[in-house]
Amino acid sequence: MRVTPNGPLLVRGAETIRDEEGVAHETTRPVVAVCACGKSGRKPWCDGTHKVVRRGRA
Ligand code: FES
Repeated sequence: MRVTPNGPLLVRGAETIRDEEGVAHETTRPVVAVCACGKSGRKPWCDGTHKVVRRGRA
């Protein structure tokens, strides 16, 4: 797993990601971007919203 500054968690080799409610989300991708900002409209996946949120704070 790799943490990106102000962005998602990049997870390599995961078959399942569990969200904060314990719901399992399966994936077949070699690398997935998991939302760490809490603002994604596609949780648990990052949808790029963190870029807008960060810009709004500046
Ligand atoms: S980290 Fe990208 S939308 Fe939350």
